[in-house]
Amino acid sequence: MIEVVHTIADVRQRVAAARAAGWRIGFVPTMGALHEGHASLIRRAVAAGEYTVVSIFVNPLQFGPGEDFEQYPRTLDADREVAASCGAHLIFAPSQSEMYPREQLTFVEVERLTEGLCGASRPGHFRGVATVVAKLFNIVAPDTAYFGQKDAQQAVVIRRMTEDLCMPVRIEVCPIVREPDGLALSSRNAYLDPRERQAATVLYRALRAAEAAVLEGERRAETVRQRMLEVLASEPLARVDYAEVVDAATLQPLETLRGQVLLAVAAFVGKARLIDNIVVEVDS
Ligand code: PAJ
Repeated sequence: MIEVVHTIADVRQRVAAARAAGWRIGFVPTMGALHEGHASLIRRAVAAGEYTVVSIFVNPLQFGPGEDFEQYPRTLDADREVAASCGAHLIFAPSQSEMYPREQLTFVEVERLTEGLCGASRPGHFRGVATVVAKLFNIVAPDTAYFGQKDAQQAVVIRRMTEDLCMPVRIEVCPIVREPDGLALSSRNAYLDPRERQAATVLYRALRAAEAAVLEGERRAETVRQRMLEVLASEPLARVDYAEVVDAATLQPLETLRGQVLLAVAAFVGKARLIDNIVVEVDS
C-alpha cells in the first residue's frame, strides 16, 4: 500500500532507502484534487520504472490576493486512492508550516518567460511556483520530474530554472488530458456548475478554430488571435483573460507564425479561471 508522509525528514529517509535499493526517483509535484491529468503523469513515472513520489501541497506562495487559495479543493483520501491505483510509491503531503516554517526570504525568480500569458494577469504567481518547485526538488532530489503541457508556461519556466541553476533533474512534459468534449482536465473544473461546465468547452473550441486557420495556411498571428477571441466572445458565460500566439520555446509574441507555435488562452467561467493551449508546428 502506498505510504503517505508529511515531513521533509521522512521523504528524505524513504527516498534514500529507495535509492540505496537501486531505484531511480521520479517525481510528480501537484496541488492535489488528483484527476486523470495528474494520473497520466504518475503512470508515466511508474512506467519508467522509477520510485515514484507524488507531492500534494496547495502552495500559498503562488496564489495572489483574491485568488482561490482557501476554496482550492483538498481531497487527500481520494488522492491517496488515485496515486495508489497508478502505482505511485510515496505521497508527500506537507503542512504549510513544514514547507514554510518561518517567513520565506529566498525566492526563485525566472525573468522574461514569466512576464506574459499567465504571468501578466497573476503577478508573483511564477515566483511562487518556481520557489516551491525548487524547494520540492531539494527535498525529493528526483532524477526526473513530470509536468503537464496543460500549464505550458509553467513547464517552460521550470525547465529554464533547472538549467539556469544547474539542478540535476530531468524535466519531462506530458500531453494534456481532456474530457471527451475537449475540456482540459483541471482541479478547478470542480468550481463549474452544469451550465458553466458546458460553456467551458469554449476554450478548446477557440484553440481548435485557430489551429484550423493555421492548418489552412494563415500565418498572421493577429488574424489567428482574433479567431480565438471571436470564438471566446460567442460564449456569454466566458470572460476572456488572454488569447495569445507565441513561440512555444521563448513564449515571445509572434507577428508571423513559424516553427513551434503555442496558441494559448485563459478565461474566467463562473468562479473558475481556466487555461488551455495547443502547439502547432508551422513549416517555414
Ligand atoms: P497542479 O495544478 O495540481 O498540477 C500538477 C501537474 O499536473 C502540473 O504539471 C500540471 O500541468 C499537470 N496537469 C494538470 N492538469 C493536467 C491535464 N489535464 N493534463 C495533463 N497534465 C495536467 O501545477 C501545479 O499543480 C503547481 O503549480 C505545482 C507545479 C504543483 C507547484 O505548486
